[in-house]
Amino acid sequence: MKAETLSKKIWFDGKVMDLADARIPLLTHSLFYGSGVFEGIRCYFTPKGPAVFRLKDHIHHLFHSAKIMGMTIPYSENDIMIAIINLIKQNNYNECYIRPIIFYGEKMDLLPTDDTPIHFAIATWQWGKYLPRETVTVKVSPYIRMSSNLSDMTAKISGNYANSILALLDAKRDGFEKALFLDENGYIAEGAGENIFFVKDKVLYTPNENAILSGFTRASIMRIANDLGYEVIEKNISIDEIPTFTEAFFTGTASEVNAISKINEYILNNKEEGPIVKEIKLAYQHAVHGEDERYLSWLNYVALS
Ligand SMILES: Cc1ncc(COP(=O)(O)O)c(C=O)c1O
Repeated sequence: MKAETLSKKIWFDGKVMDLADARIPLLTHSLFYGSGVFEGIRCYFTPKGPAVFRLKDHIHHLFHSAKIMGMTIPYSENDIMIAIINLIKQNNYNECYIRPIIFYGEKMDLLPTDDTPIHFAIATWQWGKYLPRETVTVKVSPYIRMSSNLSDMTAKISGNYANSILALLDAKRDGFEKALFLDENGYIAEGAGENIFFVKDKVLYTPNENAILSGFTRASIMRIANDLGYEVIEKNISIDEIPTFTEAFFTGTASEVNAISKINEYILNNKEEGPIVKEIKLAYQHAVHGEDERYLSWLNYVALS
């Protein structure tokens, strides 16, 4: 997709403009060194108009990532939430994907200093289903998830995603759609841009937080699954356990809830969406679309903000 068709109006350093007018110099620190920090957020249509799912949590996490990258931001978290809501209004979207990024500007020394420019941009675009089918095939990556000794994995730092891109390219070369990382101890960690859950005997299992980016979709699914009566256990999961699970699924803002049909040679979900994934996916859709009272506090209504 061409960049200009992705987004109509964007927000760049405090101003709303056409995407085509947002230009950055070639010698941009974050372009060379991956020092930008970003977040992926979705806005959904609800009975009260468009609403952004877990906006406050995402923006708080964005500022956490920026702090880790040593960035001083001239806006408050509230300023950014307002900018996002206004952008959705200006673009007249019912539903959209929202991608804020904070990055270091023109500077070629590795070490950012007080005089290194910091830029803040927010793009929004209509990104429907992230994946074409209900289920995905997954290859266990030969690359491990970067450990917390290698980078700060609680932050969404652009450079951390080189690890994910390499894993996806490898999976694709071998005919799989998605990649699954193990951690440095050989336990299952997460996907390239998703968290993972497994199902056995009506219990959900998910890797604990030490080797993953602990996503807001994961947290929402844990709460929803509990409310549906499922026990959710966070634990170390080894790949030898995969054949003992009946279902598996990824969670993430972009992919939402996505059933996994196969991990390496192991078939899961009977190649289709299993019944528990289906139930949880439906409950998640009700939550994000403002159709379940229990989860309304996760929504920021555009019209009311
Ligand atoms: C590495 C990684 N893990 C997990 C997630 C899921 O996080 P969330 O549910 O907050 O989108 C993401 C999202 O981008 C990710 O990049």
